This record gives sequence, C-alpha cells and structure tokens, in this order.
Amino acid sequence: MSAPKTLPLANEDALNHSRSVQMRIRDKIVAAGGWISFEQFMHLALYAPGLGYYSSGATKLGSAGDFVTAPEISPLFGRAVAQQIKQIIHCMSTPDLLEFGAGSGKLALDILLELERSNALPRKYYILDVSAELRSRQQALLAEHAPHLTAIIEWLEQIPPRFSGVMLANEVLDAMPVHSIVWHSNAAFERGVAWENEQFVWQNRPILSAELRAMAETLSSLINLGGSSHPYFSEINLNARYFMRSLSDILQQGVILLIDYGFGRNEYYHPQRSEGTLMCHYRHHTHGDPFYLPGLQDITSHVDFSAITQTVENTHLELGGYTTQAHFLINCGITDILAQTSAEDLTHYLPQANQLHRLISPAEMGELFKAIAFVKDFPEPLMGFHRGDMSRML
Ligand SMILES: C[S@@+](CC[C@H](N)C(=O)[O-])C[C@H]1O[C@@H](n2cnc3c(N)ncnc32)[C@H](O)[C@@H]1O
Repeated sequence: MSAPKTLPLANEDALNHSRSVQMRIRDKIVAAGGWISFEQFMHLALYAPGLGYYSSGATKLGSAGDFVTAPEISPLFGRAVAQQIKQIIHCMSTPDLLEFGAGSGKLALDILLELERSNALPRKYYILDVSAELRSRQQALLAEHAPHLTAIIEWLEQIPPRFSGVMLANEVLDAMPVHSIVWHSNAAFERGVAWENEQFVWQNRPILSAELRAMAETLSSLINLGGSSHPYFSEINLNARYFMRSLSDILQQGVILLIDYGFGRNEYYHPQRSEGTLMCHYRHHTHGDPFYLPGLQDITSHVDFSAITQTVENTHLELGGYTTQAHFLINCGITDILAQTSAEDLTHYLPQANQLHRLISPAEMGELFKAIAFVKDFPEPLMGFHRGDMSRML
C-alpha cells in the first residue's frame, strides 16, 4: 500500500535525514545479498542509532509530533494507573516500579505525583527505554516538574537480573519490530525488503526460521484461506515474546501491567483482517506504507494478546486480568478522579471530561486498547480487572 498523496510535506532537513536512513537500510540490504526481513527493516527504520525514528531528534509524541498516546492526552490516565499501582505497592514490603518505553516521561510524572499525593511512593522508579533521545527528554521533563523526586528515579541500560514490584509498559509492545508474513495458496512466506529502481520493494521468501514457520503454520487454520485466491497478510511479533520471557524470568514477586492496542488471537487473525495490522503515523496522519520517509514516521502493529499470554504459560506467572482500557480505567476509579474537579468549574472540568471521553469511549481508545496483567506471588485480585473480564477472548 503506498502512502496517500495528501500527507504533509517534510522540510529539506527532514528529507535529508530520511535519505540518510534510507541509504543506511539500502546498504544493509546490499550487504545481506539483496534482501532483509521486514523485522530488520522496521528495526533499522525505528531504532538505528542516531538515525531511526525513535533514536533521532524530532518530537514524536504529542500534538507537535506524529501521534498521541494516553498519557499525552490526559494526566487522568496516569493518575488512574497509579491507583492500581498503589494497591500492589501496599501489599509488598519493598516494591519498586520499572517502566519500559517511557516516551516523553509524562506517564512516569503523573504516576509519581499521584503516588506522592497518596503517600505511596515506591522505593525506586526505574525507567528503561531503548531510545537514548527519549531518555534525555524524560530526564528533562522529570527534572523540570518533579525535581524533588529525581532521587528515586533511575534509568537502566538493560533489564535487571531480578525485580520485585510493578513492571509497566504503555504502548511499547506495538513499537517492537515484527515479522511480516503472507499466506497464499496454502503456503506461508516471509515478506522482506529489497532495493529496486532506487526504492524499497516487498519481496517474499520461504520462511527460514523454524520458530516463525511453526507459528505461521499454526495460524493457517485460523486464517482459513480455503479456496480463496487472495493473499492474506499479517504480522508475528517474536520480539514481544522474547521481551515477555525476559520479564517473566526476572520477576520475583509482583505484577507486569501492559496496556496497548490489539486483540486476542481469533480477532487478530480473523479471515477478514486480510491486510494485517501494520500502521504508520506521520504528523497525525495514519497510513499503511512502511517505506514512506523512513526515519520520519512511526511504524507499529497491533498486539496479539493471546501470543503474549501463551509466552508466559508454563512459567511461574499467572494471568492477573485482561480487559478493555475503558474497563481498566473505570475500575481504577478514573471517574472519581475527574469528580475531584467541580463540574461547575467549567474551565477545568470540561477539558478533563473531554479527555476522559477520548480515553474510554468505544469509538476512541476505550475498546481497541486493552490492559493485561500477569502476577507472581501476589495475594489480591487486581482492582483494575474487577469488572469487564475478557480473558475468554485470549
Ligand atoms: C509508542 S512509544 C510509547 C511511549 C510511552 N509509553 C507513552 O505511552 O507515551 C514507544 C516507546 O517504547 C520504547 N521502546 C520500544 N521498544 C522497547 C524495548 N524493547 N524496551 C524498552 N523500550 C522500548 C520507545 O523508545 C518509545 O519510548
């Protein structure tokens, strides 16, 4: 799918930057013999040091960037998430927090300020982000708005060997590079990227990785091509699985809380979702062409929450809950938090009511986004999953 012609134009500097990213990827393709997997392409386009979308200097999140996440929409989001964290912290002796992919740092800020208001600060708030550029933005934001809390905030370079407390990731799994697969004529192929006529082109190859091939074969029955002559495109996120395995290995006691957009497997690989879930975000426009201006746009895919859950089956983790973002936030008391502002105070109340609508409306983020939790040695049912259980969809 090519990008629509109506996308905003990039300036000269941005175009030069994108050209450098394009050349870096082209060189990798040439060095690899003419083809790289889409997973490698996405990794380079998003995370090539100093060049990739998340590794270079442009503003990405918020109204001045390319897309808006829940913490950027409203502090109500972080304040509600903090209620769930507070419940967990109260049940543990020396809990820490570890946030992955903290973006602008806004979620960390809102959570920390809310926990402070409730006298429930953790021992440490760790942040681990693969983007050095975003880490600098997080440090600047937290130093400006919560200078008295910086002593408990620490940035990590890698996943620690052991952890007790709450691990949190909002919209991180969707940013992990995925493999692109096409099922056609009862066979599955890996979609990769080649360089032809001065541009990137899709090129299919047999699937060489045994793990990927086994997964593509398992999914064939769901996709149910039957006699259809149309190809079926979709994604498999092995990196999210490896990430979950790492988290399950290190968690001694506590909770992993993940919020992201996606579905259970039957919906993800529904026969009618034949174009897959790849999405690109450029200056608040969404389209489906991952080759458009590499380095200047975000590339994402939806999360297969069944795959995430299967990854931790047969480990010491248990599913702590799976529900929509709307149910999760309402269970955490987001409407009570809004009610702390008087409805007669229109100047403050109306913008927040509007933000709440964006977070929980089924037409906006409320249903597409899900919250999922995994627990280890945690004694209580989690408040965020009290109503609206959807674990049968996994
Ligand atoms: C879509 S942004 C979400 C930012 C933030 N959580 C929010 O909700 O606004 C994705 C973030 O995940 C980070 N990221 C991607 N893969 C990661 C990984 N494997 N470990 C840690 N951070 C990662 C990116 O650098 C970026 O900060």
